[in-house]
Amino acid sequence: MIRMLEIISPTPQETERIGSLVGEMLKGGDVIALSGELGTGKTTLVRGIAQGMKFDKEEVASPSFTLINEYDGPLPLFHIDLYRLESEQELYEIGYEEYIRGNGVVVIEWADKVHQAIPQESLWIILRYLDAKRREIVMKAQGNRYEKMIEELRRRLYN
Ligand SMILES: Nc1ncnc2c1ncn2[C@@H]1O[C@H](COP(=O)(O)OP(=O)(O)OP(=O)(O)O)[C@@H](O)[C@H]1O
Ligand SMILES: [Mg+2]
Repeated sequence: MIRMLEIISPTPQETERIGSLVGEMLKGGDVIALSGELGTGKTTLVRGIAQGMKFDKEEVASPSFTLINEYDGPLPLFHIDLYRLESEQELYEIGYEEYIRGNGVVVIEWADKVHQAIPQESLWIILRYLDAKRREIVMKAQGNRYEKMIEELRRRLYN
């Protein structure tokens, strides 16, 4: 079973497309942990994920001031951005644990800031700046469900 997938994305549109392929495969309870420096494309990827989940991607903006944006639908999307998080305590104040245990999809930007609070079973997506347009996107599956997801994603990307 493939546990890791490395992709080079040459454009923001491609990053969005990769996100939407992931979004199409998600179900309630899934957790996606994103990490990567400023401007590497985390929110761009989330926009794609939202689109794959049949939300209007134009609605997706980084929830930096509120820490969380909720998109309501048959499968709710909770978009958390921890860039401005000052303490782990704050995470629990926004109801993080309920989101994680809930029936929606949780996507977390800057997840590496609270590494120990991310469920053991999760899909990590690490973005890295290569140059003005290119980004390296590394997906790491933690747990059987995400291993299968990566395997399926690889199939969809390259077929
Ligand atoms: N291949 C690419 N994939 C994603 N974004 C790209 C790519 N090439 C250029 N960009 C540009 O990089 C920027 C990525 O911004 P985005 O808000 O998605 O990053 P972010 O990681 O969420 O940043 P922040 O840490 O501020 O939240 C956008 O301006 C986008 O157009
Ligand atoms: Mg962002």
